[in-house]
Amino acid sequence: MTATICGTGSYIPSYTMDNHDIAGLVETSDEWIRERTGVVRRHIARDETTVSMAAEAARRALADAGTAPEEVDLILVSTISSNVVLPCAACEVQKELGAVNATCFDLSAACTGFVLAYNTAFAYLTSGVYRTALVIGSESLSNLTNWKDRGTCILFGDGAGAAVLRADAAKEPDDESEAGMAEELPGVGRKNYLPVTHSDGGKGAALTCKSRHDFNSLNGGSRQASNETMLDDTHYMQMDGQAVFKFAVKKVPEVIGEALVLNRMKPDEISYYILHQANKRIVEAVAKRLGEPMEKFPMNLQEYGNTSSASIPILLDEMNRDGRLKPGQKLVMAGFGAGLTWGAAIVEWRGCSG
Ligand code: ACO
Repeated sequence: MTATICGTGSYIPSYTMDNHDIAGLVETSDEWIRERTGVVRRHIARDETTVSMAAEAARRALADAGTAPEEVDLILVSTISSNVVLPCAACEVQKELGAVNATCFDLSAACTGFVLAYNTAFAYLTSGVYRTALVIGSESLSNLTNWKDRGTCILFGDGAGAAVLRADAAKEPDDESEAGMAEELPGVGRKNYLPVTHSDGGKGAALTCKSRHDFNSLNGGSRQASNETMLDDTHYMQMDGQAVFKFAVKKVPEVIGEALVLNRMKPDEISYYILHQANKRIVEAVAKRLGEPMEKFPMNLQEYGNTSSASIPILLDEMNRDGRLKPGQKLVMAGFGAGLTWGAAIVEWRGCSG
């Protein structure tokens, strides 16, 4: 059995804050933020919630895949900013979609979350447990942001991305004539690529957040920089920026290299490296360490900032919709973040026709 991404969707809040807006809140400048991070603006949820954004991204992915909600038998939401502790965001999305046949649960692994959720769905589909999965990354990080901390409030944004994965009956081509049909027949000739993932809980102090409060009650309060409702700094994201930066530029190229070796592939077989969109300098450093051209490292962080587990599926959806992704291309998705966690998955793109 193999599994394929057969549709993508995303949802981005319309309200934006650019770097000049941030410079009105903390001592910083547009120039400093652009130079150190590449971020120009970020979109902020005002009327939206993590669940409403996830559900809309999922609706768009299902439409792209030509899949009815009733066909979905697994919904996985990766998030660190769910509306409430219970019920989980995935069950709330199920309710919004009417995906009555789905089994639903959330996964919390910060900015590596979408890669781990994709891997989890992939394992279920290729082992024959489920046939159709919705994998979603959705975040309202603005509710976890300390808008008085210039070391973090410049970085983050809100949004959601989703992908529909479908299982295909796979088999190796038996002979030359069947090999010739590999492009036409969904499962024939397709390979299952193995992911590589790591965690290092010993370094977890580099990026922390104690908050599990009712985000909706803080909605607006925290991001208006008044922070009157704030409990204390530890209830918001706290980061040792330099430590995370050094970790990312070392571990991300390493884990991509491990995934290529494990799957007996060379970098020139990869069309695009879709990295977690945290910082332009991190993406550039990874490209340099891998010896690959920047054209293979698409970026949209200038528009959205770091949307944690939503960043990879939002970028994937943009590339799907603007026609950059072509059937047969091999992609690497790589994430890194709190935990610490990091990982890479190789995807053979088939798109909706697959
Ligand atoms: N504006 C102006 N000056 C600033 C700002 C700011 N927003 N922030 C820090 N500074 C100052 C510091 O005070 C310091 O001043 P000093 O030299 O007088 O002490 C100077 O700028 C340098 O500070 P650094 O922290 O060394 O700045 P750095 O170049 O490391 O950039 C940044 C900071 C952008 C946060 C960077 O470290 C980074 O991007 N780290 C990675 C973050 C990341 O990718 N996280 C991903 C995981 S997110 C997740 O899992 C949810």
